[in-house]
Amino acid sequence: MSQYGSMGYTEKVMEHFRNPRNVGEIKDADAVGSAGNPVCGDLMTIFLKIKDKRIVDIKFMTFGCGAAIASSSMATELVKGKTLEEAANLSKQAIADALDGLPPIKMHCSVLATEAIEAALKDYYSKHPSKS
Ligand code: FES
Repeated sequence: MSQYGSMGYTEKVMEHFRNPRNVGEIKDADAVGSAGNPVCGDLMTIFLKIKDKRIVDIKFMTFGCGAAIASSSMATELVKGKTLEEAANLSKQAIADALDGLPPIKMHCSVLATEAIEAALKDYYSKHPSKS
């Protein structure tokens, strides 16, 4: 049996799409960042709580396709507890690999997550210039 289920998505993608982790907002977030895809119009916002240069909590809101939601969910799992530097280095490939792959035409969806994290880190550094 192929590792891809319906519509070319892996079981892991479907599982994160059905039960996304870390969905929501952090009201007193230390940093917030958004990214949008101008082609499909999908949008993602990331909220971070940061302590000692580490991401201690993360939540996301994504208005987007299933691959974008699964990528966002996986991305939050991958950077939770990590240092800001490690989070900045998260690649779309790492997200796709952790999901056991994304269909090639859906690779761009994982970029929303890396760009939103990048935007949130920029927001943090602009508010805390001494910590960059
Ligand atoms: Fe827009 Fe997936 S189609 S992010």
